[in-house]
Amino acid sequence: MVEVKQIPPAGEPGTNGAAGHTKGSGQDESQPIAAPSGPVYQPRYAHIVGWGYHVPAKVITNQDLEQIVDTNDEWIRTRTGIAERHVAADPKETSVTLAVAAARKALEVADVPASKLDLIICSTTTPEYSFPATACLIQDALGAHNAGAFDLSAACSGFVYGLSMARGQILAGDAEYVLVIGTETLSRIVDWTDRETCILFGDGAGAVLVAASEVPGGILAVDLGSDGSGGDTLIVPAGGSAMPTSLETVSSGMHYIKMDGKAVFRFATRVMASATRKVLDRAGFTTDEVDLVVPHQANIRIIQNSVLNQLKIPADKVFVNLERYGNTSTASIPIALCEAIEAGKLKPGYKVVFVGFGAGLTWAACAIDWRTPVEKQSTDWWKSTRRQATYGAAAARSMWKRAVRWVYDVLPTDPEAPARDDGKEREKDKIPQEAPVKEPARSKEQG
Ligand code: ACO
Repeated sequence: MVEVKQIPPAGEPGTNGAAGHTKGSGQDESQPIAAPSGPVYQPRYAHIVGWGYHVPAKVITNQDLEQIVDTNDEWIRTRTGIAERHVAADPKETSVTLAVAAARKALEVADVPASKLDLIICSTTTPEYSFPATACLIQDALGAHNAGAFDLSAACSGFVYGLSMARGQILAGDAEYVLVIGTETLSRIVDWTDRETCILFGDGAGAVLVAASEVPGGILAVDLGSDGSGGDTLIVPAGGSAMPTSLETVSSGMHYIKMDGKAVFRFATRVMASATRKVLDRAGFTTDEVDLVVPHQANIRIIQNSVLNQLKIPADKVFVNLERYGNTSTASIPIALCEAIEAGKLKPGYKVVFVGFGAGLTWAACAIDWRTPVEKQSTDWWKSTRRQATYGAAAARSMWKRAVRWVYDVLPTDPEAPARDDGKEREKDKIPQEAPVKEPARSKEQG
C-alpha cells in the first residue's frame, strides 16, 4: 500500500468510512477486514493527493460572441452567469495536450513520478479519435509505462464517474495510484452559428491523482445515476453507428452539439440536489457540516436553484468559476477544485462534495473527507529538472518504440519471404492461377 506520508492521521483507523463500507453496513468498522481464511487486510482509503489544470490561452468574451451570433453580454450573463471562455484556437492544442499539461501538474503536486501510475482514466466527450483511447495517448506522453489506460464517456458527470472507478480500484487492492482526468475541446464540436449552445461551452482540462492510503478519509461515498430516455436532449447525432459520417451528416451539421436547454435545465436542478443528499447520507455528513461544494459549472442559475435553494448550502461554501471558463463539461469540476485550492477555500479536515450532471443523461456526486495538505510546496529545482528529463525520455522512448515497429514492419517475418516494401510479391501471397475446384460431395438422395 502506498504510504501517503503527507496526509496526517485523523482519528482511529476505520472510524470514518472504512474501505468499501457505507454507513449502516452493520460491520464493525474499527476492525481490519478479514478474509475467511488467510491474511488480515488493513482498511484502505482513496485520497486525492495531487491536482492540476490547464486551459488554452485564447479567450472569447461575450462581446466577441456578439460579433458572431445574435446575442448580447447582458443576456448571457443573466441567463447563464458566463462572461468568457477559453478555446483551443491553435489546431495543435487537443484534448490530449490539455490533459497532459494538467496531469503533469497533478503529478508534480503529489511528487509522484508517472512510472508509478497503475491506471489512467480519461473522461472526455471530445476524444482525439474514436479509438485509440485518449487515455492511451496521455499514457504515452507521460511515460506512464506501468499504467493501464481507458476513456470514460459520461459527459459532464464523467470526472466524478472516474473518481468512483479510481476509488473502486484502490479499495479492491488492484491499484495504488490512479490518475483521473477530465479533458475537453468542445469548441471543435460546437456549432458557432447556434446561439443557444455556442455561448455556453469552453475548453480545458483538469486532473487529480488518487492514491491508496491507510489514513482514514478521502473519497468516502459516491452516487452515480443515468436516464437514457433523455439521451436526445443533449446529443451529437452523427459519427457513431446510428448515423455514420456521410456528406449529408456533415452538410446538415449533425456532428455538432444539439441541445434542448430547458429540458436539461429542469433535469439538472432536480438531480444535483438529490445526488448530493444521497452521498452526504452515505458518508454520514449533514448538509450543515459541508465545508465546500464544487458543482459542475454549467449555469449559475442551476447551481442557485439546486445547491443554494434546495439544499440550503450558503453561497460562500459553493465554489463557482464559470464566469471565466463557461461549461468545460467533464473538466469543470477538477478545474474548479484547483482554483478553490488556490483561493484557500479548501483545508485538511474539510467535508467536500463534488456534484455534476450531463449528457446521457447522467449525474454523479461524491463526498470527500479531505485530508491532504494544500499548501503550495516551494519548487525544488533539481526535482523539476529531473521531472522534465523523464518527460523528454518518455518522448524518446515513444519514438524508439515507433521506430522498432517500423523496422519490424519492413523486415521479412520469415526468412523465406522478401521484405514487404520491396515491391515484390511474396510466395505465400500469390493467388494460384488455376485453383483446384473441389466437386461438392453428393448426398445419398442425389445418388
Ligand atoms: N442570446 C440571446 N437570446 C437567446 C440566446 C442567446 N444566446 N439563446 C436563446 N435566446 C432566446 C431564445 O430564443 C428565447 O427567445 P424567445 O423567447 O423569443 O423564443 C429566449 O432567449 C429565452 O430562451 P430560453 O431557452 O427560454 O432561455 P433559458 O432561460 O432556458 O436559458 C439556457 C437557455 C441558458 C440554454 C438554459 O436553458 C440552460 O442553461 N440549460 C442547461 C444547459 C446545460 O447546462 N447544458 C450542458 C449540460 S452538461 C454536458 O453534458 C455538456
